[in-house]
Amino acid sequence: MAFPGTGKIWMNGRLVEWKDATIHIASHVIHYGSGVFEGARCYATPRGSACFRLDAHMRRLQHSMKIYRMEYALDLSGWQQAVLDTIRANQLKACYIRPIVYRGYEALGVNPFPCPVDAAILLWDWGAYLGQEALEEGCDVKISSWARMAPNTLPATAKSSANYANSGLSKMEAITDGYTEAIALDVYGNISEGSGQNIFLVRDRTIHTPPIASSILGGITRDSVMTLARDLGFSVQETVLPRESLYVADEVFVVGTAAEVTPIRSVDKIVIGGGRRGPVTEALQRAFFDVINGKVPDVHGWLTYVYPEEGSLRSADKKVESGLSARG
Ligand SMILES: Cc1ncc(COP(=O)(O)O)c(C=O)c1O
Repeated sequence: MAFPGTGKIWMNGRLVEWKDATIHIASHVIHYGSGVFEGARCYATPRGSACFRLDAHMRRLQHSMKIYRMEYALDLSGWQQAVLDTIRANQLKACYIRPIVYRGYEALGVNPFPCPVDAAILLWDWGAYLGQEALEEGCDVKISSWARMAPNTLPATAKSSANYANSGLSKMEAITDGYTEAIALDVYGNISEGSGQNIFLVRDRTIHTPPIASSILGGITRDSVMTLARDLGFSVQETVLPRESLYVADEVFVVGTAAEVTPIRSVDKIVIGGGRRGPVTEALQRAFFDVINGKVPDVHGWLTYVYPEEGSLRSADKKVESGLSARG
């Protein structure tokens, strides 16, 4: 989906126009992938706009930064405030949220330390990532010929820009071969994750998903879906899963901030279950969409409302000026 090219972007504590949100070609991140980022969403609910698990996303950003030895002058509440201020400044009701922390312009040796740690927060409108139809009909995936990163190479639990070189290879292969998405195995041949989603399978009404040690990103949607599944009375097992367990599953689905909860109807052209969304997937999809759309009480405290009162939209810019103090 192409960008509309308008709106304000938060860059090191300042709001700049979309067209002016540029960095130098000699920035370290462009050459060496030295960035970490997040992907979160804000939804329009009947009680107003609400970010889903903003605290968990910004905590994961801090963990990614820590792994890559990046320091920045914002604490957890400062990061959350910066996101909320940016949404208010853009007066958006619903959006995708992309904070990124990266090594900027100073020198181009491999050593990232001399380069400043810079940050930005971008917002845009992003619909169903794997297509609206896929949410009901399911999509067709293949097992990637590219393995996910081996342990102790690139850390999979850090949401680093560099990891998406691997995701991109899998995704391009899948598209070239006529599939919607790729599922990668880890270097031991067990199921890892999609190019931008975690994966679940259902067998005899028990839900299984690979553990963190299977080279996955610890997804916030994954955690939410496991919680909702247990709320609904399902047994959920985090367990190492061989490739072929996908082929014989009753249901398979992928989850992520962008993909939300999307059923898989075939893997390597082998039809899964009935070849369309199964009943467990449907129940979890409904539970997830009910929470994010504010249709049920927020019993887990997952929603952060953006506009404390609906009438506060007009005073948003004032709040931004006062709330932005990171690097001025
Ligand atoms: C590689 C990868 N795995 C899993 C996920 C799902 O994570 P989350 O649910 O936190 O969006 C993503 C989404 O960004 C991802 O890129």
